[in-house]
Amino acid sequence: MIRFYAENGLFHLQTREFSYVMQVLENQQLVHRYFGKRVNHFSSSNKMTYLDRAFGPSPISGNRTFSLDVLPLEYSSNGLGDFREASVELRNSFGVGLDLKYQGHRIYKGKPALEGLPSSFATEDEVETLELDLYDQLTEIRVTLLYSVFEEGNFLARSARITTGAHATKIEKCLSFTLDMPRKDLVVHSLMGRYGHEKEWTRTPLTSGRYEIGSVRGASGHSQTPFIALADAAITEDSGEIYTAHLVYSGNFKAFAETSPLHHTRWGIGLNDQAFSWQLEAHQTFQTPEALLSYTDRGLTAMTQISHTFIKRHLVRSSFVDKVRPILINNWEATYFDFTEEKILELAQTASQAGMELFVLDDGWFGCRDNDESSLGDWFVNRHKLPNGLGGLAQAINDLGMEFGLWFEPEMISIDSELYREHPDWAIQITGRDPIYSREQLVLDLSQDQVCDYVIDSVAKILESAHITYVKWDMNRNITSMPESLANGERYEFHHRYMLGLYRILEALTTRFPHILFESCSGGGGRNDLGMLYYMPQAWASDNTDAIGRLSIQEGTSLIYPVNSIGAHVSAVPNHQVGRVTPLETRGNVAMMGGAFGYELDLTSLEAAEIQAISEQVETYKGIRETVQNGQLYRLAKTSNTQSTLFVHQDRSQAVLTFVKILAQPEAPLIQVRLKGLDPEAQYDCPCLGETFYGDELMNIGLTMPYVQKDYFSVQYIFNKR
Ligand code: DGJ
Repeated sequence: MIRFYAENGLFHLQTREFSYVMQVLENQQLVHRYFGKRVNHFSSSNKMTYLDRAFGPSPISGNRTFSLDVLPLEYSSNGLGDFREASVELRNSFGVGLDLKYQGHRIYKGKPALEGLPSSFATEDEVETLELDLYDQLTEIRVTLLYSVFEEGNFLARSARITTGAHATKIEKCLSFTLDMPRKDLVVHSLMGRYGHEKEWTRTPLTSGRYEIGSVRGASGHSQTPFIALADAAITEDSGEIYTAHLVYSGNFKAFAETSPLHHTRWGIGLNDQAFSWQLEAHQTFQTPEALLSYTDRGLTAMTQISHTFIKRHLVRSSFVDKVRPILINNWEATYFDFTEEKILELAQTASQAGMELFVLDDGWFGCRDNDESSLGDWFVNRHKLPNGLGGLAQAINDLGMEFGLWFEPEMISIDSELYREHPDWAIQITGRDPIYSREQLVLDLSQDQVCDYVIDSVAKILESAHITYVKWDMNRNITSMPESLANGERYEFHHRYMLGLYRILEALTTRFPHILFESCSGGGGRNDLGMLYYMPQAWASDNTDAIGRLSIQEGTSLIYPVNSIGAHVSAVPNHQVGRVTPLETRGNVAMMGGAFGYELDLTSLEAAEIQAISEQVETYKGIRETVQNGQLYRLAKTSNTQSTLFVHQDRSQAVLTFVKILAQPEAPLIQVRLKGLDPEAQYDCPCLGETFYGDELMNIGLTMPYVQKDYFSVQYIFNKR
């Protein structure tokens, strides 16, 4: 709900759990007044207090207590007295800075889409929008702040639109939001990592100074996630305050939290201002990506569940969003580039006999691609490997009762490719400089319309050539050697233009092929973010398929992203990334709780007993996948050596508990796990224990985990309500 009180210039935005309050001061400056637990009334108990702070610049002569440097500004600019991190920085013939004053506002039902960018959506009954105009008289620049309130969804979408008047300006920085809060006793939660170890849940107490994460890779990256949260130091799964912000964007971003000497915190998220600028001529507009803010005081589990529900209902556009995902077999770790049609069909046949539903043909099916050094861009089938073409292969796989899916890496170009020989200028590189290689490939220049059109046409042609119902969209290097900058009027627009080109491609292909389940990938989780999830409802979480390595990756990813968006596969032992040998049971149990479950190993080389065990896993997963993929996630008691994860069906009819113990220990303590979210009065049968328990005893007393002296031990308990 959005309310405006004209008598004191107050805007009160409310969701189910939080209030967000702003006020227009007498001099028309817009300040932030409150973000936190929902209140029904706001009468300024947190009175604006003006003090004469030393060295505090004031825009009002004779008034030493009014200083921008200490005001909780709703959208701040640099250079005119606020020395903290600014929301927006411009450069034009007037110098720097904007003196932003309230000009007007509009409140309406519904929410506008952001042109060219992914953004949240809802029906008119689910969301209300406030557009607030701030204006700088001297430069004639208007900043429109957009606030869309999802009352039930418990989220607030924020972005900013900058519009020039009669004069041109260069935008040097333009965040999607910044927010000033009168406290600094907070811990930053973020998802950090590296290739093969993505989305490690990291907690960093705020101290004096600043915390910042970000990427300038041209992608959100393996090491950071466009997400930041500030939480009570003592937060638990079940209680405590947490403020979160996602950025709906897949390119360069930054998120920061800066404490002031006066114990305030300013935090925000948006486009990274490093390697960015944007030229606006007279009467032009620039729209920032969207930030999604939320708050709860019910702890981490509530934060996760609110985030999952919102993303599924208001961000993922695909019609697959709530559909259970097919169990797949992917040939990458089974064959790498070395396959024939015969081998693929042999693998598919074994997979189909084990009950799998989708065959995914990974890298190596096109051009002359026998290794990773050639053919990206040449999207036509390799007839040596696949003499019957994709149509023939898809048909043969369909005949086995499975769907057929295909890997692409459409944003890339190999130097050894027909495409490069024809269009070297389509690769991002600087004339006169040697290319910078990464996996021996270059990136296509998606800031050029003709290149985007080529990508759309060449991918569409393949998708139309065979019965393909799944696409894995990979991206295996980051952007270097941007052919612009100083020569182009000191612009640094390339990265953002690339993203706009990519989003145009994704928009075209995902709307043209709505029956295709798209999964994004970037060497695993190198671009696993909300910008991609808007178009593609799944992401391959990591190239690390080791069950133990996956524990933290899946925990971090599912902290904010829906479980059914996380691709998780059982692979061979010794594991190809880390060499670890884990039991098939544990590989299965961990991948099943990952979400979008599948296998990625050479099934044809396994013993009959292993195939039998795999068939049983597949069967089991079919019986729990609605619960895992669309149920509620609970992280239960965790130690450095154990992890317990619970999924409860939306109607509480089923629960799935996975317990993993990493290493055997001498004299290990017995572990009792208390379940959550069950119907306390209901009886739950646990077939694998052959016992029945009441919900209240499972939740209050807990279940004793088996005492087993083995490394990489795991157990999966399924509870079915009577
Ligand atoms: C990187 C992906 O993450 C892998 O799963 C696989 O698809 C390879 N690329 C293929 O080149």
